[in-house]
Amino acid sequence: MFGARCLLRALRSCSSAPCPRHKPSAKLSVRDALGAQNASGERVKVQGWVRSVRSQKEVLFLHVNDGSSLESLQVVADSNCDSRELAFGSSVEVQGQLVKSLSKKQNVELKAEKIEVVGSCDPKDFPFKYKERPTLEYLRQFPHLRCRTNVLGSILRVRSEATAAIHSFFKDSGFVHIHTPIITSNDCEGAGELFQVEPPSKGKVPEENFFDVPAFLTVSGQLHLEVMSGAFTQVFTFGPTFRAENSQSRRHLAEFYMVEAEISFIESLQDLMQVMEGLFKSAAAAVLSSCPEDVALCHRVLAPGQKDRLEHMLKNNFLIISYTEAVEILQQASQNFTFTPEWGADLHTEHEKYLVKHCGNIPVFVVNYPLALKPFYMRDNEDGPQHTVAAVDLLVPGVGELFGGSLREERYHFLEQRLARSGLTEAYQWYLDLRRFGSVPHGGFGMGFERYLQCILGIDNIKDVIPFPRFTHSCLL
Ligand code: 4AD
Ligand code: MG
Repeated sequence: MFGARCLLRALRSCSSAPCPRHKPSAKLSVRDALGAQNASGERVKVQGWVRSVRSQKEVLFLHVNDGSSLESLQVVADSNCDSRELAFGSSVEVQGQLVKSLSKKQNVELKAEKIEVVGSCDPKDFPFKYKERPTLEYLRQFPHLRCRTNVLGSILRVRSEATAAIHSFFKDSGFVHIHTPIITSNDCEGAGELFQVEPPSKGKVPEENFFDVPAFLTVSGQLHLEVMSGAFTQVFTFGPTFRAENSQSRRHLAEFYMVEAEISFIESLQDLMQVMEGLFKSAAAAVLSSCPEDVALCHRVLAPGQKDRLEHMLKNNFLIISYTEAVEILQQASQNFTFTPEWGADLHTEHEKYLVKHCGNIPVFVVNYPLALKPFYMRDNEDGPQHTVAAVDLLVPGVGELFGGSLREERYHFLEQRLARSGLTEAYQWYLDLRRFGSVPHGGFGMGFERYLQCILGIDNIKDVIPFPRFTHSCLL
């Protein structure tokens, strides 16, 4: 199979210099190598990690993956090659000729001329075994190694593509990207889930704060976006947010990424919901077209039936019900809930999941929540004894709440009263100022990025869609 003498010499040593007759090889990603049309012996160099080694009488087959695609590149080497170090998990650099494969399983393969083991790996000690498909739960014990598996590779590529798709959506819609701060002195949601930021006390006056005021990791960039929406009519931010929520649930993290948008000169929740639905659908369509194999792997091995469920979500218009209607639906349900549904009480996960099912597994916007349940910034609907605010949550199959948003209270006197009632007037003078100097009707929303990935991929546990999950009692690495 490998006639050339220089080739055999190179294979035996597995690291000798290439034959001087050969031109230097061009470095190629596995993805580009696999996509090469009409491969006809171009000399290339590929680097990556060995995903399988199979030895036959005359040849050795390796599969090399570099994270650029789910599929690995088949490398065909002479069986005389010293393969002792060529084990599952080792890192390699392979030079050779890219040729059309004789097998139907792949279009191209790399005929090795030189294989160098860059870093060896003892498969006995490596926690993953060739051909085994460990569960996501098992993989969670190895946050430093799990990205080497097919399934985590796919999830993380989808995450990367979805990030890019979200940025594209906003850019194409004319939004300005704002970097809102991670360290802040405000508690946007007022839910008391703040992590305080303070250096160790050594070497400074003990009772003094580093920033002179208490400072926290942000729970939401909304208030900073609202500042910006006084100058830019459409803004968004997409960054890490932090909540000291004492929860081990499958949809809560202490550090998660939130996509937030704020739009000026809008007057109805309808306008906001249109952007939310557009964002959901456009990013999903972009991901489906940019990494279909990765999405298909997740659907096939982790969530059978999810492909159809996602298609169903994407092809239907999202539904809208009011909070009051939602409570009525829950009260008429035959199901027994742990938390009895009643007007004025928060919707729990069990309620959200029931509502989505009731709506035929189409995402549903729930609008107009009781004022008493929501933060000070939401716009008063002035609707009599029930007294609601113009809030909107989007509930989706499998996850429950994915988006939270509202129209903001842009009227000075309404906001002043709300702040006074919560004892926040002093701290939020700057926020009141925004209503004094060119205030406009505006609104916005936040979408939990990990929950979005869970929803499109059908992944049950939020810890599996973020590279390094942080939650109560766990901050590995
Ligand atoms: O509903 P939330 O709390 O809304 C806000 O923070 C608004 N200030 C956003 C805005 O209007 N700009 O959070 C928004 C979304 C939730 O719907 C949920 O998807 C996600 O953020 N989220 C979490 N995701 C993972 N872990 C947690 N602990 C989360 N808390 C909220
Ligand atoms: Mg919420």
